[in-house]
Amino acid sequence: MILVTGGAGFIGSNFVLQWLAARDEPVVNLDNLTYAGNLRNLDSVRGDARHIFVRGDIDDPELVAQLLRAHRPRAVLNFAAETHVDRSILGPAEFVRTNIHGTFNLLEAARAYWGGLAGEEQRRFRFLQVSTDEVYGSLSAEEAAFRETTAYAPNSPYAASKAAADHMVRAYHHTYGLPTLTTNCSNNYGPFQFPEKLIPLVIINALAGKPIPVYGDGQNVRDWLYVDDHCSGIRRVLEAAQPGEVYNIGGNSEKNNLEVVRTLCAVLDELRPAPRPYASLIAYVKDRPGHDRRYAIDAGKIRRELGWQPAQNFAGGMRRTVSWYLANTEWSSSVTSGEYQKWMNANYQERGAA
Ligand code: NAD
Ligand code: TYD
Repeated sequence: MILVTGGAGFIGSNFVLQWLAARDEPVVNLDNLTYAGNLRNLDSVRGDARHIFVRGDIDDPELVAQLLRAHRPRAVLNFAAETHVDRSILGPAEFVRTNIHGTFNLLEAARAYWGGLAGEEQRRFRFLQVSTDEVYGSLSAEEAAFRETTAYAPNSPYAASKAAADHMVRAYHHTYGLPTLTTNCSNNYGPFQFPEKLIPLVIINALAGKPIPVYGDGQNVRDWLYVDDHCSGIRRVLEAAQPGEVYNIGGNSEKNNLEVVRTLCAVLDELRPAPRPYASLIAYVKDRPGHDRRYAIDAGKIRRELGWQPAQNFAGGMRRTVSWYLANTEWSSSVTSGEYQKWMNANYQERGAA
């Protein structure tokens, strides 16, 4: 049995589905279903006795302690977080509460639970923190990619809250011996991603004939990884890494935002032709404050030590993703109704055309 937090979100739900497809070990899934959590992502395992969903907060000490006591998981994997940089700029408080205090609460509960285990059960236990490359800050075009030894230099409230959580995880290993693992991954994309993030936002706006907002000059660079590959990397770290270790996970796919948007438009032109090329919808808008220029991951350590590599390349992953959104318009409509419109107004109305 493993305990996954945030398993109704984008990466967490992909992880739960991949886990249950690969093995019989049950999953307790703790998620408080914020705007980003969606039980529809887990429709295909509804009724599966190996999946136990619990609606609740990672920042609730009694609930977390009770779940650990009741289910005796061999691992806690912490996906739960507030994850959108633009939201962290407009409202950082929830990022501090969930990402920092919530992780602290999980660590405290895990420490007490692990301390009460004995023998093999105690030796096998792991706390895996799912983190991001954004904790390392921004690179210039010439700088070498982030390594596990790169100093943390977070620039957004989101990145700072994840960095603080990672430091607590590190401290719990060094101080208390809690067998922790940390993964720092680059930008994910794929099925079930909430359309506040670049890739699903572009697909959904393009299909609706709405402007495709590109921040600033569109030259900011991210490394892109198909979500299934991130999940397989986490599984590999969980099974094979030594306690206290940190692994960077990335796709060897550095692209600037304009390249990403143009690729999506070209795939859409092919799969769902419209009277005008989708790229004609591209609209440059006001930049994000403090916008990190470039992220790049050196994933050499996980490749060398654990033999992990991504299975999807960028072109294949983008095609799969566009195809998934084309085949799942009902999912998109359900997440873009109601509250979503408020966010679109809050984030984009002020931006206007650059
Ligand atoms: P997401 O925003 O899609 O989902 C987050 C999930 O956490 C949601 O289901 C939400 O309901 C849940 N949640 C939020 N606050 C909670 C709380 N207090 N208690 C319980 N559940 C709560 O996020 P995602 O993109 O799937 O990211 C998952 C993890 O991976 C995060 O920790 C994120 O920092 C990390 N990460 C994401 C990316 C990426 O590109 N999306 C890249 C690297 C790392
Ligand atoms: P995003 O998906 O928000 O991920 P992150 O900021 O965590 O990397 O954004 C990816 C890149 O796309 C980032 O450089 C910001 C840019 N972007 C746009 O140009 N327009 C948009 O509407 C959004 C949401 C992002």
